[in-house]
Amino acid sequence: MQLDTLIKNGLIITAADRYQADIGIKDGRIVALGQGLEGADEVIDADGLWVMPGGIDAHCHLDQPLSDGAVMADGFESGTRSAACGGTTTVIPFAAQQKGQSLRAAVEDYHRRSEGQALIDYAFHMIVTDPTETVLKEELPALIAEGYSSFKIYLTYDDLKLNDREVLEVLAMARREGGMVMVHAENADCIAYLTELLESQGQTSPFYHGVAHSAIAEREATHRAISLAELIDVPLLIVHVSGPEAIEQIRWAQGRGLRVYGETCPQYLMLTAADLDKEGFEGAKCVCSPPPRDKAAQEAVWQALESGVFQVFSSDHAPFRYDDPQGKKLHGDEAGFHHIPNGIPGLETRLPILFSEGVVKERIDATRFVALTATNPAKIYGLYPRKGTIAIGSDADLTLWNPEARTTVRNADLHHAVDYTPYEGLELTGRPVLTLCRGRVVSRDGEPTAAPGHGRFLKCDKPQPARPRGAAKGF
Ligand code: URP
Ligand code: ZN
Ligand code: ZN
Repeated sequence: MQLDTLIKNGLIITAADRYQADIGIKDGRIVALGQGLEGADEVIDADGLWVMPGGIDAHCHLDQPLSDGAVMADGFESGTRSAACGGTTTVIPFAAQQKGQSLRAAVEDYHRRSEGQALIDYAFHMIVTDPTETVLKEELPALIAEGYSSFKIYLTYDDLKLNDREVLEVLAMARREGGMVMVHAENADCIAYLTELLESQGQTSPFYHGVAHSAIAEREATHRAISLAELIDVPLLIVHVSGPEAIEQIRWAQGRGLRVYGETCPQYLMLTAADLDKEGFEGAKCVCSPPPRDKAAQEAVWQALESGVFQVFSSDHAPFRYDDPQGKKLHGDEAGFHHIPNGIPGLETRLPILFSEGVVKERIDATRFVALTATNPAKIYGLYPRKGTIAIGSDADLTLWNPEARTTVRNADLHHAVDYTPYEGLELTGRPVLTLCRGRVVSRDGEPTAAPGHGRFLKCDKPQPARPRGAAKGF
């Protein structure tokens, strides 16, 4: 067979193996793995490079409609361009239901926003904010079966949060239908109480966002979400975990044999509350929820990555421009922390940061890097083995890494539409030098090479990790 592309002499690294071999690509898929392969229209020499599955960023926000008037800087075009340049080949952003809106309408609207825009492949999670009877009995079962098999629920934010009864109904539906539930676990009343207290004392600078979003509020909500999922006997994934309090709950649940999964993000490895405590309004750049905590929390997050408490490493890219009345300065540059849009950018820096700080500094090995950034998200969200691995028949989504190349992070070199990166000046070792999505080169040396429209929408299967443990509960 004449191949379209042959990647020769690379060191292939998957979540399981590490071996020297050539990769043959035909019609966007991997069709041959072996030594001394020949016969291709295009040959890429990967001598000295590591060839890994393209990254899957399973938690990012692109062109998400918001109820407070803020506008996300990145849509599918700039967001996926940025992701591709950072070695990512699939993103999973969120089709968010507004309260009172049909979930189906939210999904259709999100298709309109993404159609023809993406450079790399994409699937949708949903955000369920209004679990009406129609949503639970009709819309969600149909959508899950049609390829939207995961969704996020919130325990905080006034316009998004569910009460415990609603959470139980949603979890029971997920158990019946085989959907994967992601939860934003922070206690809304704790945050509201602390916010009012801080405001009454005039403590409103961005630093106090971190005080209001206490780790205890995160711990309580994490434990509650786990307990509700245990009651229903359904798996659950706790997203964007910030430190030891929530980690302890997840480890405890896993130790009891519950199917509780965990996700963390670069900001919890690289930032601390000090980044919120900058001159003037600068701290707003790092306002996200849960907030970055302290050095001890960073260490706990590293340990949980090493020991397997976390399965997924995502960016939680939530792109708001800093110097912009639709972004971080929505309510001006003296606004109280409570009024600052939450979220930080990170699509393009996610993989290079974990590679440099984790693999190069030997906190995690390269196979775990692949598991956390590609293979596990593919499995957990129903995309495996089409995505997330290097195997015969899988899509040729590949990232070639120069493990020794040095870079300094500069926002001017990134491709998102945000006017800052929290990692400005960070020195990294290891760089994605070539990224292929379905056999097509989508970035080379940190620059995009594909056009909008190359990326395709992916329907997700019902994920095997979303299956309950099998205890007969009668509902
Ligand atoms: O602050 C954050 N994380 N913003 C994005 C929305 C979310 O809750 O993930
Ligand atoms: Zn969240
Ligand atoms: Zn998020």
